[in-house]
Amino acid sequence: MAKKALILGLNGQDGSYLSELLLSKGYEVHGVIRRSSVINTERIDHIFKPEDKRYIHYGDLQEGIEHLLFDIKPDEVYNLAAMSHVRVSFEVPIYTGLVNGVGVTRLLEAIRKLRMKCKFYQASSSEMYGTTKPPQDENTIFNPVSPYGCAKLYAYHITRAYRTGYGMFACNGILFNHESERRGERFVTRKIVKGAVRIRLGLQDNLYLGNLSALRDWGHSKDYMRAIWMIMQHDKPDDWVVSTGEYHSVKEFVIKVFDYLNLDWKRHVITDKGWERPNEVPALLGNSKKIRKELGWKPEISFDELVKGMIENDIKVERNGLKNNTRR
Ligand code: NAP
Ligand code: GDD
Repeated sequence: MAKKALILGLNGQDGSYLSELLLSKGYEVHGVIRRSSVINTERIDHIFKPEDKRYIHYGDLQEGIEHLLFDIKPDEVYNLAAMSHVRVSFEVPIYTGLVNGVGVTRLLEAIRKLRMKCKFYQASSSEMYGTTKPPQDENTIFNPVSPYGCAKLYAYHITRAYRTGYGMFACNGILFNHESERRGERFVTRKIVKGAVRIRLGLQDNLYLGNLSALRDWGHSKDYMRAIWMIMQHDKPDDWVVSTGEYHSVKEFVIKVFDYLNLDWKRHVITDKGWERPNEVPALLGNSKKIRKELGWKPEISFDELVKGMIENDIKVERNGLKNNTRR
């Protein structure tokens, strides 16, 4: 019988790649999306056809999803749902705590109360390291400095507590930044790519950014979703860093994109304090030796390929006046 997976955050960047991966492996994939006043299934419309609608369920981490767990009886639950924007978390800190932190306890507690035997994956984040100096691995101290990072750290610990306390197969993937053609437009890589492409096509003149000196370890979401599936197939539950082991500054990213498009970035990029955060995480660089050695995972898409793929996708999107995330 096909394994059943339930993905919270199905229509997000990662949810879309994970559902493609699991379907290719023969899983029956169910997912949760939120009701929205506009169509919010662009990233998954090519994956779930109208006749597959029975696999897509409405829900919210704030409400709990006991009924879905009970009805679907998944073998694997992937919690990718979150208020995922760090800067926005400073504006909605309480909501962020309730969704990204308490929401995870709701899920774990539902699984426990229903006595389900399913495996559980929590989308933990390198943002939890905050101001701790790089490189960071599974033993590095956490120093979160954003409401998002604090809520994610709570979720990380509660996942461990349910593992040790109740013997649940509950894992954390501590994923460093990962991007793609499907990345939300408010994250810096996609914002830079989209802005530069629009400048190249004469659709806008300037691009407003915040801190250009931040360093990030950027990988591709597709590679990282393969990693989290491997984490869930391991014989014991554990916590794993997933990263490329290479980092670049936001400024380097800008230069790379503008160079690719034959543009002089200095003529178009304007730094604006309005895009800065009350606290900045200066440098994230992951040491993913453990998952490479124990599970044999490694990233397959290079930084250059990631950037080129994102640029080519946005050229297509902007030239054809398409909605986003067209590249499959
Ligand atoms: P994303 O594109 O923003 O997707 C987040 C998903 O969560 C969306 O489907 C969103 O639905 C859903 N969601 C938000 N609030 C919810 C709620 N209250 N109840 C149910 N669903 C809710 O983010 P992503 O890049 O795919 O990231 C996936 C997960 O990994 C997130 O938990 C993120 O914090 C974590 N993470 C991401 C990275 C990264 O670099 N991408 C790194 C480490 C960890 P709507 O479309 O309705 O908002
Ligand atoms: N979003 C954004 N917009 N970031 C900017 C901008 C801007 O205009 N200008 C500079 N930055 C800087 C931010 O200050 C940050 O240092 C860096 O670019 C990356 O910002 P984001 O792309 O928003 O990502 P993030 O690192 O804050 O958070 C992402 O990665 C985390 C893992 O470390 C998100 O995907 C989180 O959900 C994820 O957990």
